Parts: sequence; C-alpha cells; structure tokens
Amino acid sequence: MPIKNIDDGSGETLRVLEVDGYLTGTFDTNGQEEEFRRIPNWQVKPDDVFICAYPKAGTHWLWEVSSMLINQSADRVKLIKETAMLEALTEEQFRNIPSPRVLNTHIPLRLMPKDTLSNKTKIVFVQRNPKDICVSFFNHHSKIVEYEFNGKFENYVNRFLKGLVDFGSWFEYTLDWEKIIRDNPGHPFHIMSYEDMKSDPISEIGRLSVFLGLKSSTELIAEIADKCDFSAMKKEKDPLENTKGWKDAKPGMYRKGQVGDWKNWFTVAQSEYFDTVFNQRMKDSSFTYRFS
Ligand code: A3P
Repeated sequence: MPIKNIDDGSGETLRVLEVDGYLTGTFDTNGQEEEFRRIPNWQVKPDDVFICAYPKAGTHWLWEVSSMLINQSADRVKLIKETAMLEALTEEQFRNIPSPRVLNTHIPLRLMPKDTLSNKTKIVFVQRNPKDICVSFFNHHSKIVEYEFNGKFENYVNRFLKGLVDFGSWFEYTLDWEKIIRDNPGHPFHIMSYEDMKSDPISEIGRLSVFLGLKSSTELIAEIADKCDFSAMKKEKDPLENTKGWKDAKPGMYRKGQVGDWKNWFTVAQSEYFDTVFNQRMKDSSFTYRFS
C-alpha cells in the first residue's frame, strides 16, 4: 500500500495513505486502496443520506443526530460512525448497511459514488471554523496510533494551512463544496454549522428534521438534543471505540466539544498568519464562520 510519511518541512511526519495523489487515513480495511478507488462505482439508494464534512467539523455529532432522526428514536446508536464512513469500508460492508442509511464521509464529491448528484441524494454539509478544526485535528493526529505523529502545535498550523494532512487542504475541500452547491441549485443540500449546533441545538435539529422530510415531535427533538449533548455522547460513545487505535488506550474522539478552544492554542502571531492565509484563500467565498 502506498503509505506515505508526510513531512511538512519541519522534519515531523504524519503517516497516511496516498491513493492517486489523494491523501486519506489508513483504516483497518481489507484492500483499502483498491476499495477506495472503486467508491465512485458504489450504488447509492434513493433514501440514503450523506453527512459530508471536513474532519473535525462535527461529523460524529451530526451522524448521531441524523441517525436518531431517521430512526425517529432517541435510543443511543450502538455503532460508531466509522461503520458508515465511505472511506473506511469495503463495498460489501457498504452494501450491507441496512436502509435507511445515514452515511458519512470526508472525501470530496468527485471521489464519492458518482450517482450521488443524479440520484438527488440528500447531503448534509457540516462546517466549523477552521481554527477550531486545526486544533481538533492536531489532537486527533497526536492521539491516534496509526498516524505515528509526534509533532508540535507550533509547526502544525503550517501543516494544516498547507493541507499536508489526510483529506488534504481545508480550503480546497470547502471551496470545492461551495462551488458544487452553487452549481447545483436543485440538489437537496443542507448546510449546518458546528457553532449553530452548539448555540441552538433544538432549532438546528428541527431544521434538519424538516430537510430530511420527517415530522419529528418537539419532545423527540428535545430528547435527541439531550442525548447528543457533548458529555452524554462522550460518556456513552467513548467505550465503543477500539482502544488499540488510541495512544495509551485512551479514546479521544470526544475531546472538548467547545467553540473557540483555538484561543488556548494559537499564539497571536499564528492567529494573524492564519487570518492572512484565510482572507486570501477565502476571498471569493460567501461562507462565513464564527470563531468564538
Ligand atoms: P474537539 O476536538 O474540538 O473537542 P468529527 O466528528 O468531525 O471528527 O469532529 C470531532 C470534533 O467534534 C471534536 O472536537 C469533538 O469533541 C467534537 N464533538 C463530537 N461530538 C460532539 C458533541 N456531541 N457536541 C459537541 N462537539 C462534539
């Protein structure tokens, strides 16, 4: 397998899988590289829903919420979201997920099943301010064994801005989706933000329910918001993680769950540099972000 140790110029490396120039994480999947290449040929079903997000934007959270909405039940989902994550599956595993399926992925549309647009598959696109994503991704890379990453945050901001991470540049990913959403006005897209979910989960879950074509009661929405609150999810989902994948056998997927944690990590100089790159790369974008 073309495993690469990606050096960001500081001598620190991050271990990822490169498939035809695209960087993805290494998963415990039989024949991952070949499976990954074939994802565009996988068949979507009319009632599939995709949660699409750059890593660390809140994918686990929205997958859990959407799954509960689709099930019309706030019973805890007993599986981890990686069991429905395109790039972590074989085609057979994908086919065997019972419908209605809530799928999730960090890969761009061009690498997703090619019928996604023609089938008008519902897509929930989740965003989060990229400074918090950067901090969350640093912790993710630092804690998961497979990355063999022992880098320092002082170097990491540059790595993140250059996109030398699995799933590539946040800028490219985000601008690519913005263009796809703009170019396909008839497609069912629903854009959500981590920050809105934090400040008003009830309204956000209500809007998501309408998008999914469901008539959820206010009681159910309140119960889902409660069950998917950070501390409830951390308590009940952490034990489902495979501890072997985490350094010191300590699962860290549910880390802090806050808006603005970047202020505890970035120096003033790093923040200013980030802003300069952000303003330049996002100058033509109409997406907006709340950083605190
Ligand atoms: P932090 O590292 O900032 O805590 P993803 O699911 O896309 O990998 O994103 C993971 C981030 O979402 C982590 O951010 C994680 O703690 C946070 N998260 C997961 N579940 C959450 C929840 N129920 N409420 C708020 N944040 C949550």
